[in-house]
Amino acid sequence: MPRPPHPGENAERVRQGSFTDAAGLAHAFEGASQVLIVSVDTMGEECVRQHRTAIEAAVAAGARRILYTSHMGASATSHFQACRDHAATEEALRACGVPFTSLRNGFYTTSALHFLGNAVESGRFALPEDGPVAWTAHADLADATAAILADEGRFDGPTPPLTGGQSLSFDDIAALATELAGRTMTRTTVPDDQFREQLVSQGVPSEVADQLLGIFAAGRAGEFATVDPTWPPCSAANPSPWARCCASNCPQADPRRGSAGCRYRQSSPCRPPGQGQADRRTALCPRAEVS
Ligand SMILES: NC(=O)c1ccc[n+]([C@@H]2O[C@H](COP(=O)([O-])OP(=O)(O)OC[C@H]3O[C@@H](n4cnc5c(N)ncnc54)[C@H](OP(=O)(O)O)[C@@H]3O)[C@@H](O)[C@H]2O)c1
Repeated sequence: MPRPPHPGENAERVRQGSFTDAAGLAHAFEGASQVLIVSVDTMGEECVRQHRTAIEAAVAAGARRILYTSHMGASATSHFQACRDHAATEEALRACGVPFTSLRNGFYTTSALHFLGNAVESGRFALPEDGPVAWTAHADLADATAAILADEGRFDGPTPPLTGGQSLSFDDIAALATELAGRTMTRTTVPDDQFREQLVSQGVPSEVADQLLGIFAAGRAGEFATVDPTWPPCSAANPSPWARCCASNCPQADPRRGSAGCRYRQSSPCRPPGQGQADRRTALCPRAEVS
C-alpha cells in the first residue's frame, strides 16, 4: 500500500498570473518543466501581445517545453482573425528557442450551440452561408491535452488538427437537432451584410461582428473541414460529440434515448467564440432566430 503523502507533497500549487503582467508570470511559472499556455479569449494585436508575454515568461522560467492551445486552420492567410492570431503566436513559439507543441484544436462543438441562439424555442435559425466544420468536444480536447502533456516526445511543433469524427454544416446541424429534439428545426441563410447589420443593431461592436463573419468565410473556404484521425479519442464519434454536447447542455437530453426530448438548456450563456467575459456574453449573442 502506498504511504500517505507528507504534508504539501503531491499537492497542486496554485499561483496567480496574468498574461498582462510579466512579473507576475515569472512567479507563476517558476520551476515549471512544461508550461501549457491557454490562448486568451480576445482577438487581434492585444491577444498576440499577451501570448508573447506568456511565451517569454515560460522561456525565462527555464521551461523545457511549451504547449499552446492553437486552432485547426491556424494560418496567416485565414479568413478568421483568431486563426491569424494563432499563426502569429506559433511564429513566436518557433522563434523562442524552446521546444513547443501547438495543439491545433478542432472547433468547439459548444461554439456551434452558441450560434443556434434560442432556435430550440423558435424552431428556426438564420445564419450566413457556411461550410463543413469538424466540430470537436471540449472534453476530448482536454483528454488529448493531458495525454500530450504527459508524453514529452510527442508532437514537436504544430499538431495535426485534433478534431471530432465528422464535419457538419449548419444544415446538417439543423437536421441533427430536429432528430434529437423531436421537432423541426429550420435553418435559413442570410446574406453576410444582413447578418452583420443584425449583430450591430443588437449592440455587437462592428469589429466583433466582422470577426464572427470571418468564421463563416473561413468555413466556406473549407478551413475547418478536415477530419483528422491522428487523435482517436477526438475522432471516435461514438457517442458523437454532438450527442454528448447536447446531453451536457441539457441533462434531460440523453443521447442514448435517441430523439427523446432534447431541449438545449435555455439559460445557457450565449457566448460567441473568442468572447469569454460573462458580462459581454448576452450582448454579443447572434440572434440566430431572427431572419
Ligand atoms: N477551438 C475552438 O473552437 C475555440 C473556440 C473558442 C475559443 N477558443 C480559444 O480557446 C481558449 C480556451 O477556451 P476555453 O473554452 O477553455 O476558455 P475558458 O474556459 O474561458 O478558459 C480560458 C482561460 O484563460 C484564462 N485567461 C484569460 N485571459 C487571461 C490572461 N490575460 N492571463 C491569464 N489567463 C487568462 C482564463 O482565466 P479566468 O477564468 O481567470 O478568466 C481561463 O482560465 C479561448 O480563450 C480561445 O482562445 C477556441
